[in-house]
Amino acid sequence: MNVLLFGSGGRESAFAWKIAQSQLLDELYIAPGNPGVVEYGKCVDLKWNNFNHVKDFCLNKYIDMVIVGPEDPLVNGLADYFSNTQALSHIYFIGPKKVGAQLEGSKDFSKRFMARHEIPTASYKTFRKDQVQEAVDYLKTVEAPYVLKADGLAGGKGVVIHEDLNDAIIEIKEMLADEKFGEASSQVVIEEFLEGMEFSIFVLTDGNGYFLLPEAKDYKRINEGDKGLNTGGMGAISPVPFITKSIFEEVKQNIIEPTIKGLSVDKIEYVGFIFFGLILTKKGVQVIEYNCRMGDPETEAVLPRVEEDILMVMKESATKTIISRTLKVNKQTALTVMKVSGGYPEKYSKGIIINGIEKNRNDDCIVFQAGTKMEDNKLITNGGRVLCVTGLDIDPLNARKKAYALLQTIKFKGEYSRHDIGNDLGIK
Ligand code: AMP
Ligand code: GLY
Repeated sequence: MNVLLFGSGGRESAFAWKIAQSQLLDELYIAPGNPGVVEYGKCVDLKWNNFNHVKDFCLNKYIDMVIVGPEDPLVNGLADYFSNTQALSHIYFIGPKKVGAQLEGSKDFSKRFMARHEIPTASYKTFRKDQVQEAVDYLKTVEAPYVLKADGLAGGKGVVIHEDLNDAIIEIKEMLADEKFGEASSQVVIEEFLEGMEFSIFVLTDGNGYFLLPEAKDYKRINEGDKGLNTGGMGAISPVPFITKSIFEEVKQNIIEPTIKGLSVDKIEYVGFIFFGLILTKKGVQVIEYNCRMGDPETEAVLPRVEEDILMVMKESATKTIISRTLKVNKQTALTVMKVSGGYPEKYSKGIIINGIEKNRNDDCIVFQAGTKMEDNKLITNGGRVLCVTGLDIDPLNARKKAYALLQTIKFKGEYSRHDIGNDLGIK
């Protein structure tokens, strides 16, 4: 099978690593990829939004399967393009069409979906940009903290939480009237604040059945102790010790199955991953958000635990032959730590030389590159999240030790990583 994978981050590095192990694979192309994935496939200079170019590439290279890592191509209709273009419609496409991708692309869409299908989530109200006064009046009737969410994609920055009512009122005005997040905040969801421990569950679905992947927890804030600004994710761990079998069952019954059934009831064809961002509250597990893709860095912790051929399971999803089940996973703990550029998630420099990266030789300690680039034969930084290391071991503490030991051997000027990944779960 010839496979084209879109994306360039740590998530796509983990996909490439896993796909390269598949019995079904002939050629893997990654667009655009990064210098780390050349161990697993060929990087190609192909932009997903140049549809004609993508079409020519797929036909010239006899591509059999397309896998999309990030949400943008999905929210913007790449899957629809493949399905509507006769010459491409035979290609297996992993990722939902535009309407399914709205689960992530519009907070209001996903809240209405959850309300319709009785999926537990925070109570909410949505306001358009011509309803600033109504939004302010509504804020005055609800309790602090105030959770304000830009409706559309805002690069992970669209959720703002304020303790103080006046700050929340200023914020809602900025979001709605001043379009703080551009078009994305022309509608804003105001939501009840939920308290509890967050974790994520992932499925690969064909719209009827689903494969359940291992759960994960990520570390979103930049500073240790979960303080400071939100980032794309500074580390991840799988399994999550506080997710017991009964919590898993609750999530399956109250959240996953109603979601898959809801898609089918709403006649939303969906082939691809669903990422359930969840929170364990006193009232049970509730949904914080859906994403129409895998998480980053959760994928870097989850995929190394999966003991099945990833292209085989993806093929079952694309051919709509899934009989729901949990994927076979190993019992190891996977602990992933990110190394980021100094200054991230705010301003940071690029082009800094990275020393100490070697080819991956062991499956129990893996480097996944993300924001990296080759220039004049040197590996340099090219993004905020530069690379991560996943350590695996039956003993969680050893998984952690392996990850940090290897991470320490890779160095660049201004680097930063959190040293407390796993601490909150007693892995220290
Ligand atoms: P989202 O983009 O919806 O995942 O939100 C980003 C982060 O904001 C989440 O991971 C939570 O930490 C926080 N958050 C979002 N919604 C809520 C809520 N209703 N209550 C508490 N925290 C929330
Ligand atoms: N790590 C969170 C995400 O991928 O959205």
